[in-house]
Amino acid sequence: MTQNHIIWHPAIVTKTDRQLLNQHKSCALWFTGYSGSGKSTLANELDCQLHKLGIRSFVLDGDNIRHGLNKELGFSQEDRVENIRRVGEVAKLFVDSGQIVMTAFISPYRKDRDQVRSIFAAGEFHEIFIDCPFDVCEDRDPKGLYQKARQGIIRDFTGIDSPYEPPINPELTINTEHYTVKQAAETIIKYLENEQIIPKN
Ligand code: ADX
Repeated sequence: MTQNHIIWHPAIVTKTDRQLLNQHKSCALWFTGYSGSGKSTLANELDCQLHKLGIRSFVLDGDNIRHGLNKELGFSQEDRVENIRRVGEVAKLFVDSGQIVMTAFISPYRKDRDQVRSIFAAGEFHEIFIDCPFDVCEDRDPKGLYQKARQGIIRDFTGIDSPYEPPINPELTINTEHYTVKQAAETIIKYLENEQIIPKN
């Protein structure tokens, strides 16, 4: 729906002002991967490491956002599209507020991730592929959902009867089958330093 008679109100304190106060840049780290690939675990470990470094960060997590903001959305393609669209907008608000926001959503459709990317300025959106083979995610089955999906109790389950489109050219790929969560978080910290988003330690 096009919004008529609604005029954008510019902020007086700018994003740059906030970044200067924080002494680091802001950005969205967009994690994508199967359920059970380790997106939330890694996002939270990274959040801890950044927090210890004095960086303003926050995690938006699929399971949690679906308890509140997106509680009426299910797992049809249409609902997933809307889920990701809203999360993209919320992530942008966090970036405007000067923070580093990590989003942990399967976000299975390439087109939706590209659409989110398009609302950010250059260098603000970093797609991070949480690369873990489907079979390993199914074996881990941390919430018992794969088993339920195989039994037909859950429908439209990603990787079983709903598609997952891996990124073609992500900023970063993190293999969570062979690396520990600590190592993976450290790799991302190094990446943020090299990209001059956070200062080098
Ligand atoms: S997304 O596809 O719209 O990005 P999102 O990341 O918000 O999904 O939610 C995925 C989480 O919801 C999974 O990690 C899992 O815990 C739970 N879940 C419940 N039903 C499904 C389903 N049909 N497909 C995938 N995940 C599901």
